[in-house]
Amino acid sequence: MICRSADKEYLPITGMPEFNKLSAKLMFGSGSPAIKESRVVTVQCVSGCLSLRVGAEFLAKHYHQHVVYLPEPTYGNHPNLISAAGLTLKTYRYYDPKTLVLDFQGLLEDLGSALTGAIVLFHACGHNPTGVDPTCQQWEQIRQLVRQRGLLPFFDCAYQGLVSGNLDDDAQSIRMFGCDGGECFVAQSYSKNMGLYGERIGSLSIVCKTADVARRVESQLKLIIRPLYSNPPIHGAAIVTAILKDRDLYQKWTNELKAMRDRLVQVRRQLYDSLCNKGTPGDWSHIIKQVGMYSFTGLNKDQVDFLTREYHIYMSSDGRINIGGLSSKAVPYFAGAIHDAVISSLPSSTLA
Ligand SMILES: Cc1ncc(COP(=O)(O)O)c(C=O)c1O
Repeated sequence: MICRSADKEYLPITGMPEFNKLSAKLMFGSGSPAIKESRVVTVQCVSGCLSLRVGAEFLAKHYHQHVVYLPEPTYGNHPNLISAAGLTLKTYRYYDPKTLVLDFQGLLEDLGSALTGAIVLFHACGHNPTGVDPTCQQWEQIRQLVRQRGLLPFFDCAYQGLVSGNLDDDAQSIRMFGCDGGECFVAQSYSKNMGLYGERIGSLSIVCKTADVARRVESQLKLIIRPLYSNPPIHGAAIVTAILKDRDLYQKWTNELKAMRDRLVQVRRQLYDSLCNKGTPGDWSHIIKQVGMYSFTGLNKDQVDFLTREYHIYMSSDGRINIGGLSSKAVPYFAGAIHDAVISSLPSSTLA
């Protein structure tokens, strides 16, 4: 394991300066006007979770609107992290369980009638738990609506690179908002895309309207971080910095990331083909249309219970699976189990 930082000194309250600079570039792009104009503040945080929490604490202390809209459904820890800071939760429609796709109309309606100035949480890519993302055109419509209505976008970016296999493409949603002159928050995590789960390494970036505001925001962030955890850990930041600043290591990392993403796509295809070949009742094309690490299989609670009872296959009761946790070898067994679960849940008249 590479570790260019042999020392174990304390980091500054806002983390390793070089890590912050490279992380901002990774998210907003090397040509980002906001970075060039010194309007972006980036602070190293304790992974994605604490990046969200520090952002929420900042908003609770300094922002006039305390209502946050979360997509329905969303990552299970979002409500905890955001309400712990004292913010009020509401939801916006995101996913239609009947059609298993994005409820884009519902999303536009809910954000169109959201409270003025409200904070809106978006998953930058690879939405957890649905695996359903807006298209680029839809993001642009969302951006226009958010800016027209004066809403404040807060992106959670936990899967950059694992959706398209390309770090720039997966940051498109963030970059659209990051370069339009408006304000925007981004919580970033290296848990998944660098496999650094236990290092707890991530960052919070805030795009401000002017460089002067950015300087003041940074000093206020220090006042929030200091009593929370004083300063972040050093080892994960040293690993990330070593990779991001070295051309060869960066190339190796992006190649590995692409290979991991390709494996996710391949397992999705294998599962879909297996279900089609078995003639499992239903349309399973959502499995290959969804992106990233997660799939909402469309299995209902009874079917999930059946899998647990009869096959010792365990998944969340909403039918979500982590595609990354499924080996190619296990797919035939899994597909067979799904087939049985679906058949056994059909009304007996359908079998006759
Ligand atoms: C959408 C989303 N955000 C944040 C996180 C938290 O990640 P971290 O381990 O970096 O705290 C996760 C983890 O699963 C996630 O899915």
